[in-house]
Amino acid sequence: MCGIVGIINEGNISVKNDLLKSLKRLEYRGYDSVGFADVQGNVEKDIGEISKFMDSIKDYKTSCAISHTRWATHGGVTKTNSHPHWNSKKNIFTVHNGIIENYEELKKELISKGHEFITETDSEIISHFFDEELKSKTMIEAIKSFIRRIKGTYAILIIEKGKNRIYAIKKDSPLVLGLAKDRFYLASDIYAFSDNTNKAIFFEDEEFAIVDPDRYSFYDLNGNELKKSIYEFTWAITQEESVKDYPHYMIKEIHEQPISSQRLLNSLDGEQHEKVAKIANLIKNSKRVVFTAAGSSYYASLLGVYFLNRIGINAHTLIASEFQNFMLVDKDTLLIAISQSGETMDVVTATKWARERGAKIVSLVNVPHSTLQRISDISLEIHAGPEISVAATKTFTNQVVALLYLSYILGFSINMKTIPEKIDYVINENEESIKHLANELYDKKDIYIIGRGLSYPPSREMALKLKEISYIHAEGMMGGELKHGTIALIEPGTPVIALIPGKDFDMHSNAKEVEARGARVIKIANMMESDFKIDVTINDGKFAILSVVIGQLLTYYIARKKGLPIDKPRNLAKSVTVK
Ligand code: G6P
Repeated sequence: MCGIVGIINEGNISVKNDLLKSLKRLEYRGYDSVGFADVQGNVEKDIGEISKFMDSIKDYKTSCAISHTRWATHGGVTKTNSHPHWNSKKNIFTVHNGIIENYEELKKELISKGHEFITETDSEIISHFFDEELKSKTMIEAIKSFIRRIKGTYAILIIEKGKNRIYAIKKDSPLVLGLAKDRFYLASDIYAFSDNTNKAIFFEDEEFAIVDPDRYSFYDLNGNELKKSIYEFTWAITQEESVKDYPHYMIKEIHEQPISSQRLLNSLDGEQHEKVAKIANLIKNSKRVVFTAAGSSYYASLLGVYFLNRIGINAHTLIASEFQNFMLVDKDTLLIAISQSGETMDVVTATKWARERGAKIVSLVNVPHSTLQRISDISLEIHAGPEISVAATKTFTNQVVALLYLSYILGFSINMKTIPEKIDYVINENEESIKHLANELYDKKDIYIIGRGLSYPPSREMALKLKEISYIHAEGMMGGELKHGTIALIEPGTPVIALIPGKDFDMHSNAKEVEARGARVIKIANMMESDFKIDVTINDGKFAILSVVIGQLLTYYIARKKGLPIDKPRNLAKSVTVK
């Protein structure tokens, strides 16, 4: 989490219109506080969002500056704890994404040498560390010593007052150099500059770079200069960039799903087809197929397991943060890692761990050239286009579409072609009634969602949406498990959403069981009595996507009724790059 952006330019840039505009594109990585520093020594920072900050500062002009948008880990959300941080002489400024694990030990050491610390953060040690090292070393030597001494994860930008140059260092947190016509960007991800250039160089772990207005050089941890490749990336931006027709990105992105799923289908039939065939072969020929992911991507992976199991392929999934504790991996294992951002630290860590044990790695990512993609043997892109709202909506759907497609190639029975039109139908036919339901449910404290088989992962995904965006405690659970405890919480009027795919009579009975105890049961079904219209036939895999789309809309309209910050819910970030 946290986003960092630095710009270095031949002439001057505007801090507001260039630097902070770029930083704003990374705001989904965290939005607790914001700040910048330039080579003239100007520094401004504050808590809150970037647009408010932009209104509060004058428009500085500079040729070189760094900036940061924070998701707090060490130290509360205060102006002092915001980045950039500086040394006691206030001539070295740093921004950091990641966690310095041995900061307490280093801080003590630096304090004993006379350094004064003013924040509660781990990151503040960086500027003091360099101040100390630069007393006797060149910057290259100081960076080498930093990489040797520091335990933890970091993407760091450093500037020195009066020097037109940015130093950038990376380990385990993402960092990329953007090559635009008149300037270089250093940023957490390509989205910071993808409106300006599609040329980028990705940092690998323990690499650093020195970037001047007219040149850059990369080094390994021993200070040897490296020759790096320039990548040209393509983003599926099309007509989806503007939010102006919608009050929030979340509803815009929900409405985009017919288009974004169609775009993915076209690419799976077209330029990605060869990769799909290779992955299908790997799935068929591996002794063990395991998925890993976090958040919504995990619920998509659960569906992947369901689809593969239906066609006789044994597969399992495990949340990435617990992967190493509960999963056996060897050289006959195929790991399928799913991540929208491709940067989620737990997913990247689990994947590296599996790779070290000889597993083959397949990934499904949305962000091209992301870390996960780069450490995979084969990576499918889900082509959802940039997703700005913290809530995963269109990216979840496209992950499921990709998994359905893979399963379809391997023998799962489904008509893939109709997915976009069925999503369109569900949105158009149900949006108004969902608004009414949102008015009824918005002040509830708890909502339960029950599902079975095909509808169990959607029950979890819906609950996650309700928790993160509408701040309602929600539990998605297996219908069959309800009577083993949770049913004790059902009181007259408790909302229970029952997801009933096809003619699942057991699921129907579970709904009846809670109804008998006074629950307000809301049914989402395709072949039985339903409160919503879903136009798919019996046991169609599309039910999983369509029921989640209803959950997305319900969440959105509840959050709207409650006046919540829909696109940037409290305490969350879209890309979680710390453990
Ligand atoms: C965060 C986001 C979720 C997302 C999860 C996994 O928690 O708020 O929306 O599902 O990370 O992210 P990934 O990029 O790995 O799919």
